[in-house]
Amino acid sequence: MAQQVRGVVAPGKNEPVRVETVIVPDPGPGEAVVRVQACGVCHTDLHYKQGGINDDFPFLLGHEAAGVVESVGPDVTDVAPGDFVILNWRAVCGKCRACRRGRPWYCFDTHNATQKMTLEDGTELSAALGIGAFAEKTLVAAGQCTKVDPSVAPAVAGLLGCGVMAGIGAAINTGQVGRGDTVAVIGCGGVGDAAVVGSRLAGAARVIAVDIDDRKLETARSMGATHTVNSRTTDPVEAIRELTGGFGADVVIEAVGRPETYRQAFYARDLAGTVVLVGVPTPEMKLELPLLDVFGRGGALKSSWYGDCLPSRDFPMLIDLHQQGRIDLGAFVTETIGLDDVEKAFARMHEGDVLRSVVVL
Ligand code: APR
Ligand code: ZN
Ligand code: ZN
Repeated sequence: MAQQVRGVVAPGKNEPVRVETVIVPDPGPGEAVVRVQACGVCHTDLHYKQGGINDDFPFLLGHEAAGVVESVGPDVTDVAPGDFVILNWRAVCGKCRACRRGRPWYCFDTHNATQKMTLEDGTELSAALGIGAFAEKTLVAAGQCTKVDPSVAPAVAGLLGCGVMAGIGAAINTGQVGRGDTVAVIGCGGVGDAAVVGSRLAGAARVIAVDIDDRKLETARSMGATHTVNSRTTDPVEAIRELTGGFGADVVIEAVGRPETYRQAFYARDLAGTVVLVGVPTPEMKLELPLLDVFGRGGALKSSWYGDCLPSRDFPMLIDLHQQGRIDLGAFVTETIGLDDVEKAFARMHEGDVLRSVVVL
């Protein structure tokens, strides 16, 4: 039987979000209904609300979540009712060319639940990133659920559903940071700080944090950065070269998404180094570079999509490391809030002192 739950809905472009009654259908083939326990507030939710992603209003927001599987559709075998899971927004098909070549993080055919959740009047909701987890329960594809150790706090587990995974994965998966490497991280918000954590985890000897805000640099240091550069007052490329005997960093991770920081990342790496782009630019942004520099600076320029993660491999591993005390994912949870506070959390995002506000249910 379809169920009624409370959920945070963005009704139209730039309109404030509202807590509404959401109808969640029974799971069909390949689907699961999850009782949401925690869901982080991400910039992408704000972009949905602002109409920056598409116009398929109304949206059911929230996509960085963990919870317990309540029921599954007829043919679902990988997860069962009672399982504690983290949701992911790239359930891969296993069959396309990318999947068959062993690079499922590039899957061409990711999938979500096929049924729609609706408002009470029958209006279909678009679930943010195919999840819609600012709600007491949500309907997803079973492939979007990854089982992890249920003893971890849900507010911590949910973080791996998006930003923190993107940052850690940028370092360990895309950047392939190795033991003894020097890593520079440009932009130390939630994603950049997670890249700091990932770099340390991978054995980096030095992690140079770059930001324009001293408060952010302080936090980055508490996450494991060994050096900090305020790029408002100091040229970060010069500073990074100075710290590396003139060579540049082995891996530079860009976690802002702006032309000037893309440029800094390009020039701050060692000639044979790797630039990892995890900051997402907007369509009108452009960067002009001398071709001789593009040619002359070898190495690699890679973008990182969701930290090139493989949820079934990475989520349980990172939860295990957290439970062992070897990484502290709890440090990313700045505050826990209720469903009614999401609008306020969007406002706080801009003040610069929140890594993650997490809705806890
Ligand atoms: N140079 C260095 N740092 C900058 C600059 C700049 N020119 N401009 C902004 N920053 C810093 C901010 O001070 C902040 O600490 O970048 C950080 C951005 O952090 P958040 O706004 O918290 O964003 P976050 O969630 O970390 O995401 C960063 O990664 O996945 C993408 O879409 C995401 O593009 C976004 C980026
Ligand atoms: Zn695929
Ligand atoms: Zn997100």
